[in-house]
Amino acid sequence: MQDATPPEPRLLKNRSRLGHKLRYALTHPQRIVPHLRRAARDCRLRLKHRGDHVGFYRAVMASDTARSPEAAVGGVPSHARWLAIGQMQYDYLVAHGLRPEDRMLEIGCGNLRAGWRFIEHLEPGHYYGIDISPDILIEAKKTVVRYGLQRKLPYLTPVDDLKLDFLPDAAFTVVHAHSVFSHSPLEVIDECLAHVGRVLAPGGFFDFTYDRTEGHEHHVLGEDFYYRTETLVRLAAKHGLVAHFMDDWERLPHGQSKLRLTHPVAAS
Ligand SMILES: C[S@@+](CC[C@H](N)C(=O)[O-])C[C@H]1O[C@@H](n2cnc3c(N)ncnc32)[C@H](O)[C@@H]1O
Repeated sequence: MQDATPPEPRLLKNRSRLGHKLRYALTHPQRIVPHLRRAARDCRLRLKHRGDHVGFYRAVMASDTARSPEAAVGGVPSHARWLAIGQMQYDYLVAHGLRPEDRMLEIGCGNLRAGWRFIEHLEPGHYYGIDISPDILIEAKKTVVRYGLQRKLPYLTPVDDLKLDFLPDAAFTVVHAHSVFSHSPLEVIDECLAHVGRVLAPGGFFDFTYDRTEGHEHHVLGEDFYYRTETLVRLAAKHGLVAHFMDDWERLPHGQSKLRLTHPVAAS
């Protein structure tokens, strides 16, 4: 778990504050125009999908995917970065014992940045990817073709909520969500945690990353959300799940933190 050393300055930043934005603009002038363009687009999409975060974010993904599928899941249009972040997720789970016979659900699988490696590693039919964005799932299908993974029969399913009601009880030994809750308001995470325990096999785990703050919880443009660890740990407990802060993930060059949720019996 986290120790008592003072938090790094980046964990205390409130990126929604005007002061932070002005300082950032002064030190990154080349980002001002793209940011304003993004803010204007998001404003238009938010008006269109008022009160519907999933509809709003699906529209953001449609717009971003049309420009660059790799940037849509990673923020920067770099194939090297796309490969590296996928590899990092894969190596981490393999080091934590991911076996070919595991049954995996990836929530917010995107265009299979890590998913293609999981699909390759797992037995046929053992990978299930879901995402709110049909546009990025079409790109996911292209990734399956590019890596010749048809024989692995991955499932790729669009969803409009995280109730997981179309999936069977105790079906998955590993559930994975990378850079998804960093784009989710608390009610979306709450919905996921309320239902994920049902599809998680006894002894299985659910790993997710999140943008951690040690200061005030906040969001930027309704797209990037920053949470305190204890908020998410409490939410997990409310739904009968035990949370562990993954210290070894902190050592990787990623920037987000990771929690692992299990059923209480498996945690003892
Ligand atoms: C930053 S991308 C990361 C994709 C993938 N996990 C990866 O690491 O490449 C976030 C993905 O989560 C999806 N997403 C966002 N909110 C979601 C939700 N509530 N349910 C399912 N997918 C969601 C987005 O459409 C997008 O594909």
